[in-house]
Amino acid sequence: MLSKDLLGISLLEKEDIVAILTAAKAMKKSLLEDKVDSSILKNKTLATLFYENSTRTRISFELAAQHLGAKTVSIVTATSSIQKGESLLDNGYTLDALGVDFIVLRHSIAGAPHLLAKHTKASVLNGGDGANEHPTQALLDALTMQEHFSSFKGLKVTIIGDIKHSRVAKSNLYLLQKMGAEVTVFAPNTMLPRGIAELGARVAKDKKDALQGANVVMGLRMQLERMENGLCPSFAEYNRYFGVCDDDLKFADKAAIVLHPGPVNRNVELTSSVIDGKQSKIYDQVTSGVAVRMAVLSLLKAMQK
Ligand code: CP
Repeated sequence: MLSKDLLGISLLEKEDIVAILTAAKAMKKSLLEDKVDSSILKNKTLATLFYENSTRTRISFELAAQHLGAKTVSIVTATSSIQKGESLLDNGYTLDALGVDFIVLRHSIAGAPHLLAKHTKASVLNGGDGANEHPTQALLDALTMQEHFSSFKGLKVTIIGDIKHSRVAKSNLYLLQKMGAEVTVFAPNTMLPRGIAELGARVAKDKKDALQGANVVMGLRMQLERMENGLCPSFAEYNRYFGVCDDDLKFADKAAIVLHPGPVNRNVELTSSVIDGKQSKIYDQVTSGVAVRMAVLSLLKAMQK
């Protein structure tokens, strides 16, 4: 199912996910041993086109491409011709004409990468589209989980936070279910999307129910930029009922790991002691992100004409 583009986990088969994770594991090893093959993307160019802010995704895509020998350019919307009204498709045609091979797009509108991919020769990689998908985030989360657990089958993953506005939650839900994990979600009703149970997630009734026996506890950021007012009375109240502190973690499995895609609102989704604690793998996720993006780029290169 892998095509020239990576648009969403929902479009991938389990075999594609396994292939990407296998390649990412090898890429991570080569990174840690300083043995990366820097000829894999020789003569290739990657452009990051981000209409929304980013630190991790944009930088790790650029580093991943550079490690593999590609040239990278970053289009900053504030200083590009987007400010003069240039459309997304015209940006795509321009990047094609400039000879760019990969475009990583982050956009506030769900489906924007799918539209761009239909009109460009370059491979389009979804760096997050509205509240729809963030495929490389789910892949790097999976790589991090794989480093701690022998199998996804029966793995209990609890996702707590703003599920409704989260592209990370959706991509994770698609990926984890394809891989055989059991996903529980917990959020205020105002932050739970309709139909989440139909997508296969168990909806927990309270924090203890959500965390009981979990192998992976994933906090999600409050997506303030996508919320109307009034979804949560205050951060303090949110933290009390939906935030995770050291005492809450005691309900989870002893060997549980804590993940968060970042950026994190400290002491809102997770307390600082959880973020900086032994069970936290939040910075391992960031490192895994470079390896996953190296793997995806090298696999997509093989699909390009
Ligand atoms: N996790 C994530 O997408 O982080 P950035 O917004 O910093 O890219």
